[in-house]
Amino acid sequence: MSKRKILVTSALPYANGNIHIGHLVEYVQTDVWVRFLRMQEHEVYYVGADDTHGTPIMLRAEKEGITPEQLIERVWKEHKQDFDDFNISFDKYYSTHAPENEELSQAIYNKLHENGFIEERIIEQAFDSVKNMFLPDRFIKGECPKCSAKDQYGDNCEACGAAYLPTELKNPYSVVSGTAPILKNSTHYFFKLSDKRCVDFLNAWVKNLKQTEAINKLKEWLVDGELSDWDISRDAPYFGFRIPNTQDKYFYVWLDAPVGYYASFKKLCSEKNLNFDEWVNPNSTTEQYHFIGKDILYFHTLFWPAMLKFSGLRTPTNVFAHGFLTVDGQKMSKSRGTFISARNYLNSGLNAEYLRYYFVAKLNAGLEDIDLNLEDFVNRVNSDLVGKYVNIASRASGFIHKYFQGKLSNELFNHELLNNLRSQENIISNFYENREYNKAIRRIMELTDIVNSFIDEQKPWAMAKQNDMQSLQQVCSLILEAFRIISIYLKPVLPNLISKVEEFLNIPHLLWNNINLPFENSHHISEYKHLMQRIEMTQINHLLEINKASLQENNTSQVSQNIEQDNHQKQHEYITIDDFAKIDLRVAKIIDAKEVEGSKKLLQLTLDAGEGRYRNVFSGIKSAYKPQDIIGKFTVLVANLTPRQMKFGISEGMVLAASDDNSLHLIEPSLGVIAGMKIN
Ligand code: MSP
Ligand code: ZN
Repeated sequence: MSKRKILVTSALPYANGNIHIGHLVEYVQTDVWVRFLRMQEHEVYYVGADDTHGTPIMLRAEKEGITPEQLIERVWKEHKQDFDDFNISFDKYYSTHAPENEELSQAIYNKLHENGFIEERIIEQAFDSVKNMFLPDRFIKGECPKCSAKDQYGDNCEACGAAYLPTELKNPYSVVSGTAPILKNSTHYFFKLSDKRCVDFLNAWVKNLKQTEAINKLKEWLVDGELSDWDISRDAPYFGFRIPNTQDKYFYVWLDAPVGYYASFKKLCSEKNLNFDEWVNPNSTTEQYHFIGKDILYFHTLFWPAMLKFSGLRTPTNVFAHGFLTVDGQKMSKSRGTFISARNYLNSGLNAEYLRYYFVAKLNAGLEDIDLNLEDFVNRVNSDLVGKYVNIASRASGFIHKYFQGKLSNELFNHELLNNLRSQENIISNFYENREYNKAIRRIMELTDIVNSFIDEQKPWAMAKQNDMQSLQQVCSLILEAFRIISIYLKPVLPNLISKVEEFLNIPHLLWNNINLPFENSHHISEYKHLMQRIEMTQINHLLEINKASLQENNTSQVSQNIEQDNHQKQHEYITIDDFAKIDLRVAKIIDAKEVEGSKKLLQLTLDAGEGRYRNVFSGIKSAYKPQDIIGKFTVLVANLTPRQMKFGISEGMVLAASDDNSLHLIEPSLGVIAGMKIN
């Protein structure tokens, strides 16, 4: 087999959110492929990065009172740790906010410009005159033009499903300031996808794709050569890279995001002394693959190849799209607790490789969604990994240690059972190569069944009883050799587990071609240690609980962040005096105040609101007050707020505080009050 040179990427996650188990479908799918190819000793590089630019990231940083650079640095560290802990083996994990990316993006743009693919046009766009910024569609809301449902986004209505333009919304308002947007002209830069050269190229390029659904989608977009030009610029203020020869125009985030693949790889090349140009020039003999979710096909099968082609670079060898993750048959949901972050999964004590295994057992090469059924997850991992695979080792190694001091038999490892296992090599490697992981796993599990039946037939325990030591050593050695072969087949999926297996078998790191290289004669194995624990359903319930609680805590911490926004919204969304009268405001005395272990924002207050009992209230004022400074003070309590279960306990009400950008003030009634006094 000749050695291939392969560059592989996964889509770059946005730098304003956690990595969740939906993302992990993709990173696990890619990682398994990459690990398989590395085991086959090809030259493989797997790169990724955080996708850091754009309006949402800019506004999120502003809300948190930090710079976008500070935000993306913090999130990068979190993402990196998540990937490390799930054994996602990036050779380089970088950021799109990097000098390499700025340089490459500008160079690509300049080439496109030179080759006549860039056009300036004046367009009319929604503008927030309070915030002084143009508004992306997602930042305009209003009433649906069809059904009048309130607070609908500028593209379609979640209530009736109607699709429309942002300009058609009734009573539109800017999500940023709450004021009505105006229309304003601005010069934008377009990538001329409608150019005949582009359409011709894409019609030919589509032949590279292998997935029928992806091919059909692309053909649909290409029908009649009716591709619309692509708006690649945004006006300041924007967190991104400036467009060459402009003052206040920036690249739209989706222009520099895919270039981020190359920026990350270029950084790796400089670290490893590789020749970047050899990989990206149009005559390159290297391979380049992008793993993505089906939602971003448009960017990867139209824009990205066209950008590369017409800036004089090589185009991708292929793009592999996958479907979306559902949990128990439904979209991941915050209220059910199934919007599970990678971190919460790990914090609940579950092993990352359980999830890797489960995803792989379900993934195929297509675009269908995949379902994480939690009960099936528990059963599958327990029965396949613990019950079938690990069990093989524990059934044989005990005898080897008890009677033979860990020494395997001298007999040649030539047996029908082993020949059978080895003969699957080609089939299994094709399944991996073609991303038919579910088929690979099914086949491998059939092999574990065969080995377990072999053990049942041979009955090593009976041999021990009858003192037939030669047969016992031979059979157990054979079983361990079978276990070794199956371990190779599983290694791309379960790198941690298999590295424990390598230690236990006392062998060097397994490569694919080790399938045909059995143990040496008289090989010694190490002591058998427990390789993998079963999962209990209670662990899953625990996971859902901590996940739900942390989603709630995030929501409370966002309350103070939203104050500014809510104030503005009140300018157009009035409440009536009757609405206001529903709020039961009472004077409360702070009897006690404590820090809350594990929370950066909350204080736990014990309040006397004159009710003959105390109330427990969690309040996000820790940044502004030390507990001892507020004990004994009076404040104002919303007494009829529905009690809420939080991670730390039940909160029975809310105390009022006012905030501006830098500070937070608890509201105190003026002197001469008594606890329990009604305010409105
Ligand atoms: N930043 C863009 C990608 C730029 S690539 C040059 C983006 N980011 S994302 O964070 O929204 O998604 C990253 C990847 O995770 C995408 O491929 C997306 O399809 C995938 N997934 C996000 N949620 C997912 C599920 N629930 N299920 C499976 N994949 C999911 O898009
Ligand atoms: Zn509607």
